[in-house]
Amino acid sequence: MRRFLASIFALGTLTAACHAARAADTLSPLHFQSQGPLGTIDKAAAQRGYRVFESVCAGCHAVGQVHYRDLEALGLTPDQAAGEAVAAGGNLGSPLKGAAPMNMGGAIPPDLSSIAAQRHGGARYIYDFLTGFAPAPAGTTLLPGHYYNTAFPGGETAMPPVLRDNAVTYADGTPATSAQEAADLAEFLTWTADPNLDARHQIGFRAIIFFAFLAIIAIASKRRVWSAQI
Ligand code: HEC
Repeated sequence: MRRFLASIFALGTLTAACHAARAADTLSPLHFQSQGPLGTIDKAAAQRGYRVFESVCAGCHAVGQVHYRDLEALGLTPDQAAGEAVAAGGNLGSPLKGAAPMNMGGAIPPDLSSIAAQRHGGARYIYDFLTGFAPAPAGTTLLPGHYYNTAFPGGETAMPPVLRDNAVTYADGTPATSAQEAADLAEFLTWTADPNLDARHQIGFRAIIFFAFLAIIAIASKRRVWSAQI
């Protein structure tokens, strides 16, 4: 029993240590704090991603499922969230400012609210897509208004490569390389697709601990009952 409790404790310590190590991770190796069974949204990254979204992506895409009030969950104060809403000509209950659907080369920029859940690979796919623009290999003929992209199924997309180094200036001083912007957008869009991710993972973790103790009690009582000599 003591050994069992010790291993639970060791597992807990190890998980906490992994989390601490992950928090310090940057782009190499690429890691998203939100991924994994115990992942939590990296709010600083998601806030930076929101900044890039509104200055670069909102010209073509909407995230209609997210409202300015929801930004408080990313760590903005109610006043800051209201400030964002007013600057965009809305109020706390308005959806984030984004473009109305338009036709570009036969494709429509999709609403990105739940794109992280809709695409295999989630955050990683979004990162690969945003950083996957490259010159088309020799001999490839692209459809008109299309761009070569190594991550997009079929290799050509109607979305132009819009991410640039220093497209925004980050308030927290993080260098705004295009890879950093892509990673931050991936974390932001993971949050928009699953705003309750943190709470869900916390509840799941507690439930596992609860059932582990329940199992210990069940095993102990079974042994006690069946040890009785008649
Ligand atoms: C100039 C308009 C434009 C801008 C700006 C733009 N996009 Fe797009 N985006 C598109 C179009 C068009 C598509 C549809 C592409 C297709 O289906 O070929 C698309 C598709 C996507 C997809 C879905 C890819 C898939 O697997 O279907 C994602 C994710 C995406 N954009 C993210 C972004 C992000 C993040 C930004 C901001 C950095 C951004 N886009 C900026 C036009 C744009």
